Amino acid sequence: MAHDRTDFTVDLKTERLNELAFSFKKTGALVLALELELFTHIDEGRRTVSAIADALGLDEEMVDRVVSVCKALDLVMDDDGELTNLSDVSRYLVKGKRGYVGDYLMYQPISEYDGFKNLAQHYVVPTAPPRQKGSYVAMMEDAERARRFTTSGYNGSIGLAYKLTKVFDFGQYRHWLDVAGGSGVYSIAACERNPDLRTTILDFPNVAVVTREFVAKHGLSERIATLEGNFFDVPFPDDCDLISFITPLQSYVPDEIIRVLRKTHDALTSGGTCLVIDYMLDDDKSGPLDPAFINLVGLRKGHYTGRVQSGAEYVALFEQAGFKEVRVEWLMRHQLGLVHANKPE
Ligand SMILES: C[S@@+](CC[C@H](N)C(=O)[O-])C[C@H]1O[C@@H](n2cnc3c(N)ncnc32)[C@H](O)[C@@H]1O
Repeated sequence: MAHDRTDFTVDLKTERLNELAFSFKKTGALVLALELELFTHIDEGRRTVSAIADALGLDEEMVDRVVSVCKALDLVMDDDGELTNLSDVSRYLVKGKRGYVGDYLMYQPISEYDGFKNLAQHYVVPTAPPRQKGSYVAMMEDAERARRFTTSGYNGSIGLAYKLTKVFDFGQYRHWLDVAGGSGVYSIAACERNPDLRTTILDFPNVAVVTREFVAKHGLSERIATLEGNFFDVPFPDDCDLISFITPLQSYVPDEIIRVLRKTHDALTSGGTCLVIDYMLDDDKSGPLDPAFINLVGLRKGHYTGRVQSGAEYVALFEQAGFKEVRVEWLMRHQLGLVHANKPE
């Protein structure tokens, strides 16, 4: 988003800066409300503090404190002691509802929080060699973390996965390799809508276990296969006409991205497509904010551990890997870009 360059803060006092400095309190309160399933209780008809306290087996005073913050944050409304959820809360934060994203909004902030706590320790001149293992390699060696990450990824991506089937024509492909495909959510949505599509999801072994469970639940085990390992090392199948990377690349640096895009170019069938969906910055790097935050934390003790690219930078990376006529668009204007190019026939 190109920013308006006029200075709108001339007459402001410190409210805006305070708001910035203490934003973490909102996160903490929202995560607590989700952990207590407060919005679900309200939706199920427990409309008073005392009814919720009864259901939770907690003191009324405790529930009242959480409810008070939720009212101040415009999550919950209070009509003479009768509580209701605001519309978006009701749609997305009530457990069991189709649009529920509460697991993602609980787990993701907690997992990202430590990374933001002391960023200054990473914005230094490096004094030690970089660590050998990438962050994903280390995380996915732990079966329980891999399961939690992958399950919350499924919940967080399901809406976008169905949206993608409308934006991107999967019907023109026969065998899609979804590199770093996680839960398989994108393949599941695309296979449900395109009966001739077959896919292979490549990810670490502890992720693939969870992927297979999601795929089986959707009755798609015949059409969606898994391939286990690190995408830098595992040979790609040679019969794929679509190879994608949906959000892993921001955790890698440009040299690594070029390496894996070259491998993709080599593996694709003639005329096949390489598709990247990832956090993306405007070419002038003035935003959007979410990708700028992701870019901010891609450092460890002075070493770069990841990078968010702008659209123009993606074009350059694709070209260095051998692709031509690279197309870039926004999939979600505040966050995600969609970049694709074909291997020449
Ligand atoms: C942010 S998740 C995205 C998952 C899926 N594409 C989605 O959008 O729901 C990133 C995924 O990339 C996988 N990943 C990252 N680096 C990888 C690597 N070097 N080899 C295989 N998988 C990798 C992680 O295990 C994780 O499942």
